[in-house]
Amino acid sequence: MAKNKIEYVCTECGDVSPKWSGQCAACKGWNCLTEVVAAAASKGGGRFAGYAGEQAKVVNLGEVNVMTEALSSTGISEMDRVLGGGLVQGSVVLIGGDPGIGKSTLLLQVMAKLAGEMSVLYVSGEESAQQISLRARRLEIDPSKLDLLTETQVGQVLATAQTLKPRVLVVDSIQTIYTEELQSAPGSVAQVRESTARLVRYAKQTGTAIFLVGHVTKEGSLAGPRVLEHMVDTVLYFEGESGSRYRVIRSIKNRFGAVNELGVFAMTEMGLKEVTNPSAIFLSRHEEVVPGTVTLVTREGTRPLLVELQALVDESHLGNPRRVTIGLEQNRLAMLLAVLHRHGGVASYDQDVFINVVGGVRVSEPAADLAVILSILSSLRNRPVAEGTIVFGEVGLVGEVRPIPGGEERLREAAKHGFTRAIIPKANRPRKAIEGLEVVAVSRLSDALNIL
Ligand code: TYD
Ligand code: MG
Repeated sequence: MAKNKIEYVCTECGDVSPKWSGQCAACKGWNCLTEVVAAAASKGGGRFAGYAGEQAKVVNLGEVNVMTEALSSTGISEMDRVLGGGLVQGSVVLIGGDPGIGKSTLLLQVMAKLAGEMSVLYVSGEESAQQISLRARRLEIDPSKLDLLTETQVGQVLATAQTLKPRVLVVDSIQTIYTEELQSAPGSVAQVRESTARLVRYAKQTGTAIFLVGHVTKEGSLAGPRVLEHMVDTVLYFEGESGSRYRVIRSIKNRFGAVNELGVFAMTEMGLKEVTNPSAIFLSRHEEVVPGTVTLVTREGTRPLLVELQALVDESHLGNPRRVTIGLEQNRLAMLLAVLHRHGGVASYDQDVFINVVGGVRVSEPAADLAVILSILSSLRNRPVAEGTIVFGEVGLVGEVRPIPGGEERLREAAKHGFTRAIIPKANRPRKAIEGLEVVAVSRLSDALNIL
């Protein structure tokens, strides 16, 4: 095999140079040159090959054969849900998450289910065959159908895949995979990117579905380059509190389905078990109503979900009072406190404010605004929100309560779980009354505060 040339590309401006240096000669940015394998330059035309030689064919969109049968169920319905209905042939799925959260466990379970119907190959660069076999035994998986390869060189992985022709391939993890053509260490930006590019190319050419496991940095983003997320079709992310046994998988990006779709699992003695009624686990059952808690109906992906918000507002002894959120965006809290002051006349500049979303789930939509404000007020006044109440609605900067998508669906979910009262935006009032649910529609923040 001819040794490919290496060059250095600036990640900021795209300038190519044959030598590494600390500063890009073109844009003068620092530390932005990364090593890449040069495209086969000899075949005429260099980087613009294809203009002169083989041209890509133009196809009519109507004539493209869509493989409707391409979806295959993973046998785990929560997993199918986040994938957008099932596993698509030739798709590349990246699964990220903290160490020890259950990525390898989940994939081993998925592979075991799939192995019954198609050929699968599990490539591990992190664990030995013994370790994986031990885990499989613990999960009570039939190991006879699962093929395992412990290998870290991408060329070898692809060569094996080419001979075995698995329909599904797992690479655990992408940070351990490397190519000898690059000099940088496995796990470096250049290695991760090059290895992913090759695996993606293989997936598209052969129709093999590939799962890539990705590690997460201390800051919580996928380690290696952000480009990894652009290169793959689907990005799934494991969330969950380390103390809790519940694990949530969220789709951050999905070319085949809705984003922010959640799959909920519980980690048990025997691997991950699906949680089919997740609303039930995110609500903590209090003996009696307590101040500072509000139940919110959020919609993650296509499924409404009941979650409990807890607020603690306490006198601050700091010059700069604390605003702490777990499971919510902190800037949003600062904004809502300002709105509460300006349009609700409730000041909190001398109070520490803590907000927690129970159960380790993360709520990213503005539909939580009204619930955040009401929980803060409830804690501040030490007065509970009436039992059986759910709240949702976006709050704007001028103190208006704005409608949110999927209102009626959320109300139905609340009624299903026995809630009897809903404080919601006026524009979300359902056309037909929902049985057992009293709807209190508000259009201004002040209306909502008066109700409380
Ligand atoms: P693992 O899948 O190895 O995590 P990752 O690949 O994301 O690093 O998960 C390991 C954790 O899960 C470990 O802390 C033990 C726990 N676990 C169980 O609780 N039950 C089980 O059946 C298995 C296999 C693991
Ligand atoms: Mg692992």
